[in-house]
Amino acid sequence: MSIDTSQSAVVSDEVLDLVFREARTVNTFSDEDVSDEQVREVWELVRWGPTAFNSLPMRMLLVRSTEARERLASHMSGSNAAKTLRAPLSIVLAADLDFHEHLPRLAPHLAALRDQLADAPDSRTATSRDNTFLQAGYLVVGLRAAGLHVGPMTGFDAPGVDADLFAGSPWRSIMVLNVGAAPADHEGFSTPATRDRQARLDFEDVARVV
Ligand SMILES: Cc1cc2nc3c(=O)[nH]c(=O)nc-3n(C[C@H](O)[C@H](O)[C@H](O)COP(=O)(O)O)c2cc1C
Repeated sequence: MSIDTSQSAVVSDEVLDLVFREARTVNTFSDEDVSDEQVREVWELVRWGPTAFNSLPMRMLLVRSTEARERLASHMSGSNAAKTLRAPLSIVLAADLDFHEHLPRLAPHLAALRDQLADAPDSRTATSRDNTFLQAGYLVVGLRAAGLHVGPMTGFDAPGVDADLFAGSPWRSIMVLNVGAAPADHEGFSTPATRDRQARLDFEDVARVV
């Protein structure tokens, strides 16, 4: 069932197709580059998505040089390595365990929180990881809204990535996004994927009304 945009009058059906209905997880891209500027524009949009305490703990490592790409691929599981090497850009999404250092600027109304979290590493790790996953979702949707195609992956050796790419840093990898444009022979919104679209749960499967 499609959203009646004449009633809700918020976002066109075309945009909803681009971002949700027709968007697929892909592993094949054109050779076209994805620039830092494109990712910056997407960030400047998706940073408005809500996070706990306005903490914004997600960080991004844009991996594009051959050397960095090979290093990242060496930590990817199975076929994820080849997928990573084929993508014009891979973005390692990381949870910043020291996100609390930014709270005086991001949440000045919570004056004591920075110092409380400084003494609570477990709570910081949980908040950072939870909200980084949330922001990762915003980012996937934002990249798709910018017309880019995305392949998210968690199949990799995260401690290995952290030791190799984030040594001495409070960033902890949680997801890798392969990002690119559609292959040249591709037409329309629907994204080329290796297998048919799989089922999704219905409202009745996921919702209870009390
Ligand atoms: C958090 C996350 C982790 C994923 N990890 C992998 C992965 O390691 N390797 C892979 O090939 N696909 C991975 N996927 C892709 C999913 O299998 C895919 O999004 C899902 O089957 C839906 O496919 P569709 O978007 O084409 O409908 C991941 C997706 C998400 C969101």
